[in-house]
Amino acid sequence: MSEYLTLRRPDDWHLHLRDGEMLTAVAPASARLGRAIIMPNLVPPVVTGAEAEAYRGRIRAALPDGATLRPLMTLYLTETTDPADVVAAHSAGIIAAVKLYPAGATTNSASGVRDFDRVRPVLEAMAEAGIPLCLHGEVTDPQVDIFDREAVFIDRVLDPVRRATPGLRVVLEHVTTSDGVDYVRANEGIGATITTHHLVINRNAILAGGIRPHYYCLPVAKRESHRLALVEAATSGDPRFFSGTDSAPHPDSAKESACGCAGCFTAPNWLPIVAQVFQDEGALDRLEGFVSLNGPAFYGMPPNEDRITLRRRDRAAAFPTHITAGGETVTVFDPGFPLHWHVEDDA
Ligand code: NCD
Ligand code: ZN
Repeated sequence: MSEYLTLRRPDDWHLHLRDGEMLTAVAPASARLGRAIIMPNLVPPVVTGAEAEAYRGRIRAALPDGATLRPLMTLYLTETTDPADVVAAHSAGIIAAVKLYPAGATTNSASGVRDFDRVRPVLEAMAEAGIPLCLHGEVTDPQVDIFDREAVFIDRVLDPVRRATPGLRVVLEHVTTSDGVDYVRANEGIGATITTHHLVINRNAILAGGIRPHYYCLPVAKRESHRLALVEAATSGDPRFFSGTDSAPHPDSAKESACGCAGCFTAPNWLPIVAQVFQDEGALDRLEGFVSLNGPAFYGMPPNEDRITLRRRDRAAAFPTHITAGGETVTVFDPGFPLHWHVEDDA
């Protein structure tokens, strides 16, 4: 028996495509998206409008023929970012948003923000110009337990920043806690991306019965009650929650290490995984909202006009366990259950 589901072409509101050989290797997996918000945490980061434009060119060049993906670029906010450059890059159509990483919060975030007062002029210019701020919502204070860093960020940074800059549109990226979900629900002008992997794993996947580095990402997956809050938010139909995979490829040698780096590579199989999560919740009628409608609505863009079809088959879809990038392998996220939804995209 098969079942069909037609959706407007999905977007990804949080994606890492990297650069160089890794970009070449991973770009095909995201080529059939509509749009994607491209994260700027390259080494060195994408800081200026000119750098974002050049990076967009490299992404376009790495996409295969027939790609539908339109990369939506972001700038990496630093304490020396020039507000005029941000506004000019936005009005020229080069960037769609600005990303704020607290310094040291995650992979390649050393140039991030330490003193939030120093970026206030940029945030005010963004509020004025209607440029959304994407926030990596974790404090980096070593006194704060890693599982509490998102909740503490809400009190110490997110709420004060929003109060100090009224009108600034904010995306709490890759929300991982019920605290984050509750904050988004209780406030105006804020949305949140939810990743694929945080919908399916809790912290046991990383730590119970052995350490599994391919489930380690930041923000780190939390306890099961938080995962359930994310599933509830994603499947609720609330337009403030939308899909951002945070697909973050790393070479296996960097993940399977005494100090393994953070990131799950979900680009190849994210949509069948998310479809299964929605089916399990009896919410397939809300899948299109989460993957194709809520994101563009938040960003003030129209939804994609073309469609894809998902088909549920008895036979599970086969995805590679790894791809190769340069001389290295990159492990594809394993959700731990078979994927019966197949993407049929002949457009
Ligand atoms: C991301 C990466 O590898 O760039 N890693 C991750 O665990 N999510 C960075 C990020 O988004 O935090
Ligand atoms: Zn990310």
